[in-house]
Amino acid sequence: MTAETAPEFVELTALDGPTRDTVGSEWWRTAVIYQIYPRSFQDSTGSGVGDLPGITSRLPALADLGIDAIWLSPFFRSPQKDAGYDVSDYCNVDPLFGTLADFDALLATAHSLGLKVIADMVPNHTSDQHEWFKAALAAPEGSPERDRYMFRDGKGPNGDIEPNNWESVFGGSMWKRVTRADGTPGQWFLHIFDESQPDLNWENEWVRDQFFGILRFWLDRGVDGFRVDVAHGMIKEAGLPDYTPPSDSASMGGAPVVPAPGTDLTPAIIDPNLEPDPPYWGQPGVHEIWRGWHDVLAEYAGDRVLCAEAWVNPLTKTALWVRPDEMNQAFNFDYMFTQWKAKRLRRVIKDSLAAFMGVGAPSTWVLSNHDVVRHATRLALTKDAPPQGAGIGPNSPGKPDRALGLRRARAATALMLALPGSSYVYQGEELGLPEDMELPDSARQDPTWFRTHGEKYGRDGCRVPIPWEANKPAYGFNSTGASWLPQPDDWAPYARDSQAGIPGSTLELYRSALKLRRAHGLGLGAVTWLTGYGKDVVAFSNGGVTVICNTGKIAVELPVGDILLSSEAITGGALPTDTTVWLTS
Ligand code: GLC
Repeated sequence: MTAETAPEFVELTALDGPTRDTVGSEWWRTAVIYQIYPRSFQDSTGSGVGDLPGITSRLPALADLGIDAIWLSPFFRSPQKDAGYDVSDYCNVDPLFGTLADFDALLATAHSLGLKVIADMVPNHTSDQHEWFKAALAAPEGSPERDRYMFRDGKGPNGDIEPNNWESVFGGSMWKRVTRADGTPGQWFLHIFDESQPDLNWENEWVRDQFFGILRFWLDRGVDGFRVDVAHGMIKEAGLPDYTPPSDSASMGGAPVVPAPGTDLTPAIIDPNLEPDPPYWGQPGVHEIWRGWHDVLAEYAGDRVLCAEAWVNPLTKTALWVRPDEMNQAFNFDYMFTQWKAKRLRRVIKDSLAAFMGVGAPSTWVLSNHDVVRHATRLALTKDAPPQGAGIGPNSPGKPDRALGLRRARAATALMLALPGSSYVYQGEELGLPEDMELPDSARQDPTWFRTHGEKYGRDGCRVPIPWEANKPAYGFNSTGASWLPQPDDWAPYARDSQAGIPGSTLELYRSALKLRRAHGLGLGAVTWLTGYGKDVVAFSNGGVTVICNTGKIAVELPVGDILLSSEAITGGALPTDTTVWLTS
C-alpha cells in the first residue's frame, strides 16, 4: 500500500455479507436481463423501425454475449404516441413490429437458445385509441364504461377548471377535457403521462379482471414474466387532493427528485418523511393488485417473474413491491442514479442488499434504460448539466468528455456485474454507446419534448437504433439506411463487428464479465467488504473473487492475485483511476 492510497475513512468497515437463508433457486434471482427496445434493435423490413423478426435474427448474438433473459419493451398494438407505452390492444402485436406468429417464433427461438423472455405490461393507462376508452367517451357520464377511467367534473361554475392541480410527468396538466356529442364541453380525464394515455381506474373490478385475462393470454403463449410499467401508479389518493411537487421532480417515472450530477445528495432529498409520496405514486392500495398478479403467475409451471418499475424511495419502500406474495424484482433506481463516488456506491450497495434481502428478494442492479441518459454519458456529465428527466441536447450545458464517460461506464459495469442478485443491461451499452446529444430538434419524438415546448429534450438520445456492422447502411440496423431517429455519423467504432474479437473492446469486456460471473456464481454470492484501499475505492469479495473499483484520482496498489477481468489495461500492479478489476482471492 503506497502512502497516497493508505486507508483513510471507510464508512462501511468489514460488513459481513447478508445471509442467504431465505433464498430460493428461481432463475431470476441471479439473471442478467437484456432490455431490447424493439424499434431500435434490428429492422428486418427496411422501414426504419425495428421489429420482431429483426430481434429473432439477432438472438444468437445475445446468447453469445452471455445474458440469461431478454425484456422486450412494448410491441403491442399502439398508435405509438409514447413509443408503444400507449397500448390500444394488449393481446396483439402492432403491425409495425410484426404479427403474433412473429412473436411466437421469437419466443421459440429464444427458448431454444436458453434465453427467457419478459414482456412489458403497461397497466396504469391505455392509449386513447383503446376500445375501452372509445367506449368510455361514447357512454354517458357516470356510466360503467366511464368508470373504467378517471373521469371527473371540472371545478368552477362551468366546470372549466381542472379537477385538481396535478402536473403530467411529461409536462402540462394531468387533465384533459372531453367534448360531448352535442359539442358542449364535458368532463375531464386524468393522464399521468401524455393526454393520449388516459389512466385506468384500478378501483374498478372490471379493469382488474381484464388484466388477469391479458396476463394469461401471454403466459399461455409462453412468456417467462413481465416487467410492469409504472407499478407505483394505478391507485390514487382518495379525493385526488391538490399536490405541488418539489421543483423538477417530474423526472421520468415521476417519483424521486433526481438532482443534477455533482449535487451532494442530502437527506432532505431522499428522506420520505420529509418528502411525502405524491397522491398518485406509491399509494398503499397498489399492493393488493400485485398480490392478485402474483397468484395468476403462480398458476403456471416454471418460475415466471414480475419486475416492478416503481420509482419510490427509499429502498426499504421499494422492497415492499417484492415481498414474497407480490412481485419478484424491482428496478434499483437508487443504484442507477448513484454518483460515481465510492462512498455513495458502498452505501447504496449495502442499503440495497439489506432492503431486498430483508424481504427475501434479490437485489437488482441497473445503469441504463430507455428513459435515462446512457451511463457512458451520464457518469461524466459536469455539474451544470440538466437534471435527469430533462434529457441532453445540442444546446445543453455540462456535456461530458466522451473518453472519460466510457471509461467510467466500463468500470461501473464491471462493478455491477460482480454484485449478487440480478442485473439489467440496456441494448447498446455492451457497445459502450454514449447518449446521442446532437439529435436535431426536427427528429425528436418523445412527448416530453412537445409537452414542454422544447424546454426538455426528453429521452430520444438513448433510443437511437444501435450499430451492428460498421460499413453497412444504418450500421446494419437494416438494409435501407432508414432510421426512425437519425444515427450519428461517428458510430462505426461502436458497431458490434468493430469490437467482436478485439481484446479490450467494450463488447469483449461484457462478454468476459458475463462468462466469469456465471463461472464464479457471483449472482448467487454475497458481499464481504474489504477495507484498506482508501475512501475512493469500493472493494469486496464475492464467491472467491476480489472486486476492486477505483473511483478516485490516484492509482491504488493491487493485492496479490490473478487478474480475471479488468475494465482497463493494468500495468505494474496498480489499479488506475476509474477502473474496476476482478482478482482471484
Ligand atoms: C414508464 C416507461 C416510459 C413511459 C412511461 C409511461 O416509465 O418506462 O418509457 O413513457 O412509463 O408509460
